[in-house]
Amino acid sequence: MSNNTEEQITRNVLNSMAEAPDARLKEVMTSLVTHLHAFIREVNLTEEEWMQAIQFLTRTGQMCDDRRQEFILLSDVSGVSMLVDAINHRAEGGATESTVFGPFYRAGARELPMGATISLDGRGEPAVVMGRVLSTDGAPVPGALLDVWETDENGLYEQQDPEQPDMNLRGKFRTDSQGRYCFVGIKPVSYPIPNDGPVGQLLRALGRHPYRPAHIHLLISAEGFVPVTTHLFVKGDPYLDSDAVFGTKDSLVVDFTRHDSDEEAAQYHVSAPFYTVEYNFVLKPRDKQ
Ligand code: BEZ
Ligand code: FE
Repeated sequence: MSNNTEEQITRNVLNSMAEAPDARLKEVMTSLVTHLHAFIREVNLTEEEWMQAIQFLTRTGQMCDDRRQEFILLSDVSGVSMLVDAINHRAEGGATESTVFGPFYRAGARELPMGATISLDGRGEPAVVMGRVLSTDGAPVPGALLDVWETDENGLYEQQDPEQPDMNLRGKFRTDSQGRYCFVGIKPVSYPIPNDGPVGQLLRALGRHPYRPAHIHLLISAEGFVPVTTHLFVKGDPYLDSDAVFGTKDSLVVDFTRHDSDEEAAQYHVSAPFYTVEYNFVLKPRDKQ
């Protein structure tokens, strides 16, 4: 018989898992219970606070379906998503650093020719993004696929905004024989993550804002290489040091260079003013994983 006193209860819970057939589950749950009990002791959790937490998690779960994933948002604003990403995607050998995937990716974007625009509504200031995809040994990677997505100038992804055309500001591009890529997007804007649910309430209660610094999302893959989920951030953005989901990395912050000349704009089939961004992505060969 276990005596479930305050002193003994943690050991009793750990002992109850002694025969768990899955060693990894046992390891994870042992650590989780140990830290959770230590946290409750450390803050002297009251019954009201515990009930508030249960109700918060219940509301978070109730706000999850195939369009909204409040639990992932909770993981994002707690820095958990980025910590899991950091542990699982160490960018050794100069490979491009990864960052948070976010909830707004949609599979099935069209593959577009080199230099095409992903803007279907013509809003926003054009941004020509170009460079190469390279291997960590410096060799170009031909045939790499860049799947890109971003918000419109109003800070909304197309699936959040009935005014935008379906699949607006999404596209796939392939590198040429020299590993070069080029696409036209728009200069991204900073925007708030969804904050009309329990996660938004938590941010407000903590005195935190919901903004992400302006960014373009990219998922880059090539046969024989480890894919990378990443962003390009805009240098000078006021939220780079306080991203609501802790997704910024110095190596992903780039200059969006402004151009006002119509002749230069014509070269890229855009209108002035427009921006250019040059960035080389580096992929790690799978055998070096
Ligand atoms: C995003 O960048 O799309 C995003 C990432 C995490 C949470 C919400 C949005
Ligand atoms: Fe985003």
